[in-house]
Amino acid sequence: MKIAIDGPAGAGKSTVARKLAQQLGFVYIDTGAMYRALTWKVLQNKIDPENVEALYELANNIRIHFEYHSGQQKILCDGEDLTAAIRLPEVSALVSTVASHPAIRKIMVKQQQEMARNVSVVMDGRDIGECVLPDAEYKFYLTANIEERTHRRAAELSDSGFTIDYETISQEIIQRDKSDSEREVGSLKILAESIVIDSSNLTIEQVLQKMLAIIQGE
Ligand code: DC
Repeated sequence: MKIAIDGPAGAGKSTVARKLAQQLGFVYIDTGAMYRALTWKVLQNKIDPENVEALYELANNIRIHFEYHSGQQKILCDGEDLTAAIRLPEVSALVSTVASHPAIRKIMVKQQQEMARNVSVVMDGRDIGECVLPDAEYKFYLTANIEERTHRRAAELSDSGFTIDYETISQEIIQRDKSDSEREVGSLKILAESIVIDSSNLTIEQVLQKMLAIIQGE
């Protein structure tokens, strides 16, 4: 079974997707983490994020994979653990630009489809229902209002030791949503078959129970 969870930044997709996968015994694939890992490499190698040829070369030559250690998911790129690095504010600021190039998305989508082959998965991102898993049995679109998403991102950053003011986080999210929604290929959108869940006034547990009820046909 394939389950797609798409939606804007900070809607709680990763937390819900991870828990849903745990409950169902499925593999969880965080596609945002993959675009972030590539972006970290772009920064490390001082590549111009508008230089599609250089980006293409990089994306084709790095190996991104996930590992699981006592229930925790780690993302590795060429053997290097990037789990913490991909959450740095400089990565968040650049990732949407890197992800905007159709040639780069083609490489990433192919890798994501390979990861999902022959296994049951919960995959979260922006274009999962439309491009990566068009045949997914369930396509959720998880959203929340901007205030709630900003609060959640601020709390997440604070847990990781960053203090960034509320307004800066809010602007970064709005900017990223705009760029993720307006790109030509793999843009963020609600599909005709999407099951929309607004998590503004729901806890993670309530969102999870809603999804489980739908999947288990209650
Ligand atoms: O889910 P996230 O905030 O970690 O995603 C980071 C960025 O990666 C997001 O702003 C856009 C990009 N992304 C994408 O273009 N397609 C996906 N399937 C997942 C993420």
